[in-house]
Amino acid sequence: MDRLKVLLNQQQIAKKVAEMGARITHDFEGESVVLIGVLKGATIFLADLAREIKLDATFDFIAVSSYGNSREPSGEVKLMKDVDQSMEGKNIILVEDILDTGLTLTYLKQQLLGRKPKSLKIAALLDKVSRRTQPIHVDYVGFEIPDEFVVGYGLDFAERFRNLPDICILESEDETS
Ligand code: IMP
Ligand code: MG
Repeated sequence: MDRLKVLLNQQQIAKKVAEMGARITHDFEGESVVLIGVLKGATIFLADLAREIKLDATFDFIAVSSYGNSREPSGEVKLMKDVDQSMEGKNIILVEDILDTGLTLTYLKQQLLGRKPKSLKIAALLDKVSRRTQPIHVDYVGFEIPDEFVVGYGLDFAERFRNLPDICILESEDETS
């Protein structure tokens, strides 16, 4: 059996997401934005963040594969689903659940910059700073978290736990006594 320990509860998440939305609203005043969610982990964050952004906004989604069903990245990022619209001249905000090694966002940033957007910003709810192997600047960060495997609020382990309202540390049986 896996054990779940709450790291960030619903109220803490909602407060942070509201703050992030307010900052984005302020930074893009008078402009339109395209929120690009990284499937599937960012969907719940995107849904909540979008409702805190008081701007003309559209959604798009992109999918990459890097982890398979394991807890460790394979080191290789592959584009599985591209965005549907042209990004040329748009204000793109790439919305990601968690920044770990930085491989995924480095890859996506490079992909999307090639589409000649007007601007490209990154919003990540969680940041495991100590795990970074790729230096990457993230414009809007929710929480810096320790190097623990987390699930809930969109984040999964082997596709499970995405529907948990809190963000929880997943402790595997051999780590607990
Ligand atoms: P990166 O490419 O190493 O930065 O990894 C980012 C991706 O890895 C995220 O989009 C998540 O899908 C996944 N990931 C990294 N850490 C965790 C975690 O603790 N729980 C669930 N997924 C994670
Ligand atoms: Mg993800």
